[in-house]
Amino acid sequence: MQEFLNCLGTKVFMADDFTDLSYHVGTFGPNTLWVCDTNTSRMVRPLPTPNVVIEAGESSKSFTCLEKIISVAMDNNLGRDCTFIALGGGMICDITAFAASIYMRGCRVILIPTTLISMASSALGGKTSINFRFAKDIVGTFFPANEVLICTDCLKSLPNKDYMNGFADILKHSLLTKDDTLFNLVATRKQQIMDRDPDTLKAIITISLQIKKSYIDNDPYERLGLRAALNLGSTFAHALEGMSRLQWSSGQAVAWGVCKAMEASRELGICTSEFAAGVIKLFAFYGFDVNYRIQRGDWMDFRNQIAKNKQSVNGVSSFVLLKDQGEYEIRPVDEEIIKSVVMVPSV
Ligand SMILES: NC(=O)c1ccc[n+]([C@@H]2O[C@H](COP(=O)([O-])OP(=O)(O)OC[C@H]3O[C@@H](n4cnc5c(N)ncnc54)[C@H](O)[C@@H]3O)[C@@H](O)[C@H]2O)c1
Repeated sequence: MQEFLNCLGTKVFMADDFTDLSYHVGTFGPNTLWVCDTNTSRMVRPLPTPNVVIEAGESSKSFTCLEKIISVAMDNNLGRDCTFIALGGGMICDITAFAASIYMRGCRVILIPTTLISMASSALGGKTSINFRFAKDIVGTFFPANEVLICTDCLKSLPNKDYMNGFADILKHSLLTKDDTLFNLVATRKQQIMDRDPDTLKAIITISLQIKKSYIDNDPYERLGLRAALNLGSTFAHALEGMSRLQWSSGQAVAWGVCKAMEASRELGICTSEFAAGVIKLFAFYGFDVNYRIQRGDWMDFRNQIAKNKQSVNGVSSFVLLKDQGEYEIRPVDEEIIKSVVMVPSV
């Protein structure tokens, strides 16, 4: 197990394989609470106790499941010196870290991400959350994990749609740096990426996390307009997820949202048509739905979802727009431009 990154005090380790991960996990000792979902609970047999297994799926990122985690911790008399261990994707990591951040005013938390998005992005950076009233991540804290343990062997059992969800964030990160390394990898190694080649995965996960770290280190609480760049596509994506009552998965929505941000950037003259087209082509190359448009009758719902967005300044929603690779601008966008890029055109 190699430590390869430290961000906001989180030590990030890469395991050689599942055996290496199991060995490290075996050193945790008692005084832990394991949290998994109904799929990831099958990855460790027997599952250490005490544990909480919650139903897989985004709807479990809820107050009800949060109560369940806190209840099991209390029922087992865990003190503030305990460690919560999340074994799962972004949903499990987000809710477990949130529970750890409020249990006895904060206990240790170790994240073992098991999906591509949680390995390449969400486990790093300390954003914890649950959803409420269909609003994504509306309740949460900043609470960086003590450790993140990445093992690409875990990805072998991940269904393709969940794998591709995570890949959307990697593509997004490749656009947020002037260094071409990640962009070139994703543009040229599609076969290895689709085959889940371990070396390629380790490379893209490592670079993706390094890019994320570069935005987080100097703006951990997203107050200086640096970290906010990582929200490229999110204002559009979260509105779509909210409008669909979370039926759109977050990765598919992010891919769509980044493409909409590119179209808006082009319409505003912030970037060239060629750059916008190139980015959209890259997402389409990996099979993301870049052409989806919302029905005209859904516009008010979509607009209301945008208004609920956390990325707002003085109550006005803002959008991350790209001028070029690694060059961004954060600003409100005129409603007519939003309509023109998201809605089916009138006949
Ligand atoms: N905290 C952050 O900074 C941040 C950033 C981006 C996204 N997120 C959050 O991450 C979540 C999306 O992440 P996700 O796609 O990992 O969702 P998820 O945790 O719901 O996992 C997706 C599905 O894959 C299953 N699964 C997980 N690992 C598996 C494995 N190894 N083998 C087989 N099945 C497995 C899960 O049970 C689930 O059914 C959203 O809630 C999103 O808001 C958080």
